[in-house]
Amino acid sequence: MNQGLSTWGWISLAVAWGTILGLTIYCFSRVLLAKRKKEPGPTDKGGRALWGSRIGLILAMAGNAIGLGNFLRFPVKAAANGGGAFMIPYFCALLFLGIPLMWVEWSIGRHGGVHGHGTTPGMFSLLWKHPLAKYLGALGISLPFTIVVYYNFIESWTLGFAWFSGTGKYFGLTTRDAMGQFLHGFQGVEHNQFFASWLPVIVFIGLTIFLNYYFLHKGISKGIEVLAKIGMPVLFVFGIILAVRVLTLGHPASGVASVNEGMGFMWNPDFSQLSRFTVWLVAAGQIFFTLSLGQGIINTYASYLREKDDVTLNGLSTSMTNEFAEVILGGTIAIPVAVAFFGVAETRLIAQEGAFNLGFQALPVIFQKLPLGHILGAMWFFLLFIAGITSSVALTSPAVAFLEDEFKWQRAKAVNTVFAVMLACTVAVVAFFRFGFLDELDFWAGTFGLVVFATIEIILFSWVFGVRKGWADMHQGADLKVPRIFKFILKYVTPVYMLVVLGGWAYQEAISKLLMKGEPAANRPYLWGARAMFLGLILVTILMVWLAWRKRKGQEK
Ligand code: ALA
Repeated sequence: MNQGLSTWGWISLAVAWGTILGLTIYCFSRVLLAKRKKEPGPTDKGGRALWGSRIGLILAMAGNAIGLGNFLRFPVKAAANGGGAFMIPYFCALLFLGIPLMWVEWSIGRHGGVHGHGTTPGMFSLLWKHPLAKYLGALGISLPFTIVVYYNFIESWTLGFAWFSGTGKYFGLTTRDAMGQFLHGFQGVEHNQFFASWLPVIVFIGLTIFLNYYFLHKGISKGIEVLAKIGMPVLFVFGIILAVRVLTLGHPASGVASVNEGMGFMWNPDFSQLSRFTVWLVAAGQIFFTLSLGQGIINTYASYLREKDDVTLNGLSTSMTNEFAEVILGGTIAIPVAVAFFGVAETRLIAQEGAFNLGFQALPVIFQKLPLGHILGAMWFFLLFIAGITSSVALTSPAVAFLEDEFKWQRAKAVNTVFAVMLACTVAVVAFFRFGFLDELDFWAGTFGLVVFATIEIILFSWVFGVRKGWADMHQGADLKVPRIFKFILKYVTPVYMLVVLGGWAYQEAISKLLMKGEPAANRPYLWGARAMFLGLILVTILMVWLAWRKRKGQEK
């Protein structure tokens, strides 16, 4: 049955939007009113890079968090898991996992940076004086690196589709099936009448990797910060234009429903979903993914802070900027417009098929039906590209920082080495994409791995290092006094919540995934290949950590 926003739908929407807008305004007014500290120079006394300005730092951190997850993953997960009711486990996960872990990762990162460590092997050794600590920290380099290898590939599709929208290459393909063939031809899943060779995808992945290389090579304040200062405002302007366009569509002449029905589909709560444990897991997973937690990348960015730089207000501001982009913009664009043009039943099907089909097959069909569709399409995909690149430079940063800090390599040498390894791994991701290689990496690194890593991290921070010390460290130079209840949350609620999520995840998903249930036999060798690559990257990182510490010991003697 089609229906617009119900009373409960309006209430869910108003509470979610109101909370996020209220907190975003609160955070930024506090940032503006905070006593100005002298902006740092390009490096600290030891020669480590620093962020150039507070606003640059917040934008870079927001760019790190705001990614494809906000605009593609969130709407699909929310619509498929209870609509407005999904916001209950989502906000619980934000409050009890996301925001506390954000503060923890900022604090651990700043503490590490002050001691010359930009990655988690060194950071964990500071929290736990045990030889094992540094090897646990190796995950904070290998996880983001594994993620970025396939993330860059998806990012390159967004760049390709921005170009194809602007030039109208797919215009004329008015069904989802035809768009599916176009997409598969481009991805190299099959060669067909649209794409007869690998060349186009190689051009776009090459360009994507080159742009990532360029900004990382330029460094922290001149590269990543500049990218964020240009990219983030463009992203928000495009996002707001697209959201307003969708909200003012009414009942489009060539559509089958009204946008109000789309908003109803997205927001009307289905409270029965709350009794499903999976919905709580999905919400927690979404919070980790979208806030870039459990990946070591917030830690690395925070390592470029000074000892007395604020982490509490900045951390909360980053989280709220991400939530604004996710819930308000991401939740308003893709799903409601899909309902207006395809109807509720088909949109439900598209959402079940996953985020890519919504973004790359359904929306291009819709752009062709809208006035100025070329421009709107190019805006949508370019917005995704900016969201992607500001996250992918973050995902690559730990590997670069590790070589710089622990092996004392020049940045150029570190960046060149990391990109050489990345290129080799990318070849496998592109060549074996059609066998499920990318999804396999995404599960182990981008879903399971980050929950494991975040669990280790919170236990080290709250129980081994100790909440009392951690709390004092977090409040050094703080512009926001965190309510004391969070001390309790950090010590008990977050770790227990994490352990329950991890246990539930392992029980519900990891075991059947491990046994490759439902996978076609032809794909299995490639899936083993993906696992071997992931494990190989972890082992190489552990070996490098061992070498770095051995070298340091040798120098200390
Ligand atoms: N946090 C990034 C995203 O949402 C990785 O895509």
